[in-house]
Amino acid sequence: MAPRRTYKQTTRLVHGPSHSAKWDFSHHVTPPLSQSTTYRLDSASRGARGFQEFGHYVSDQGETPVYIYDRLDEPTRSILEGELAEAEGGEACATFASGMAAISAAMSSILVPGDEVVAHPMVYGCTHSLFVNWYERQGIVVRRVDMNDSAALRKAITPRTRILYFESPVNPTLELIDIAKVRKVADAANRGRPADRRVLVYIDNTFATPFGQRPLEFGADVVLHSLTKNLGGFGTDIGGAVVCPKSMLPRLLLYRKDFGAILSSKAAWSILVYGLPTLAVRIKRQQYTAAKVAAWLQKQRGVARVSYLGLKSFPQSALARKQHRNFDGDFTPGGMIYFELDESLVRATEFVDWIGSQAYSITLAVSLGHTKTLIEMPSSMTHSSYAGATNGASPVGIRLSIGLESPTDIQSDLEDAFAATSTKRPSKSRTVRSTRKSK
Ligand SMILES: Cc1ncc(COP(=O)(O)O)c(C=O)c1O
Repeated sequence: MAPRRTYKQTTRLVHGPSHSAKWDFSHHVTPPLSQSTTYRLDSASRGARGFQEFGHYVSDQGETPVYIYDRLDEPTRSILEGELAEAEGGEACATFASGMAAISAAMSSILVPGDEVVAHPMVYGCTHSLFVNWYERQGIVVRRVDMNDSAALRKAITPRTRILYFESPVNPTLELIDIAKVRKVADAANRGRPADRRVLVYIDNTFATPFGQRPLEFGADVVLHSLTKNLGGFGTDIGGAVVCPKSMLPRLLLYRKDFGAILSSKAAWSILVYGLPTLAVRIKRQQYTAAKVAAWLQKQRGVARVSYLGLKSFPQSALARKQHRNFDGDFTPGGMIYFELDESLVRATEFVDWIGSQAYSITLAVSLGHTKTLIEMPSSMTHSSYAGATNGASPVGIRLSIGLESPTDIQSDLEDAFAATSTKRPSKSRTVRSTRKSK
């Protein structure tokens, strides 16, 4: 639309051309980063239509939505949501400002006071905090039951139960929950229930990502993600996502609009351009290294227990092989390791302190699914909200998120940490060190 009269340059600098043939987004090879808080509406009726249609499911093949205001919806975020829904094999997706924003929105948007949640005893520390510090005072009961104990789960479900909540793998212990078994219990509980009071199965799939596990195939209703981890992958952006049935989307988007925890288009763009396209290659590399490091750790004097999905000794190996398959059907144990030390031989805090101050290839930091290998102590850091109630994680357990470094460097840094902090120097690891030196 050409201006009908000549406007002053000051005004023209503010407005630019009102429409331009240069806004062609459809031929970009890399998705465009759209950064506009608000959108020109052309007419009041278009504005009205935008508000009326807001929150409805729009397929990627459908008409371009009427964008109104970034907090409601915007194109870059919307492209990412389409990709995430597809990766999980789900109908719809809503992204959020963080993983916790996604988790709290997915639950709070359907729960009312008096409702109940049954959750696995061990979950990410801030999810536990959401349950005990917020839901309890909002009159929402959260019962904690081992999700693999179907009889106990069945017993814990009451007519007020709306959500069965768990992570699999569990952060930090890597215990797995049999999703299909939980589905069966939910199906039995749902017999005779009205559609709006159905018990829904929620799973936080952050550790595995859709590359490593697609929980909807095993019967989950809702899949949650912290995009901050492997889906983002580079440690530059915080975000979260909820993959859900189409029918849940309007309420979720209404919640997001009113509580306001939107994913910025800049974060969405980074995940679209860097995170998703490199997801497969990063996870394959991480698990190649993790398998070596886990097997090596198992042999070290001073190590009491190593949990890694790919180890033969992993107690739920059969379930791991069933649930953790990549898009080609290959077993995908991932890059997360959890281990515990024998405190009489190596003090975990001293070991981790040594890595924090001396190691180059391993960084003492929370978060996971990064290009860099990260180590932390869950009981005093990410899971400190449990305040001593360990629920299966040792107070001196160590979580290791493998990155993209050389496996021998990671091993050598661990080996040096053992050597520096063991009461007696471990003897087996000399060969590993000399491998690094000979490079
Ligand atoms: C399993 C899991 N879920 C959710 C979250 C929360 O994600 P965010 O930090 O993006 O809010 C985390 C964070 O560490 C996590 O490990």
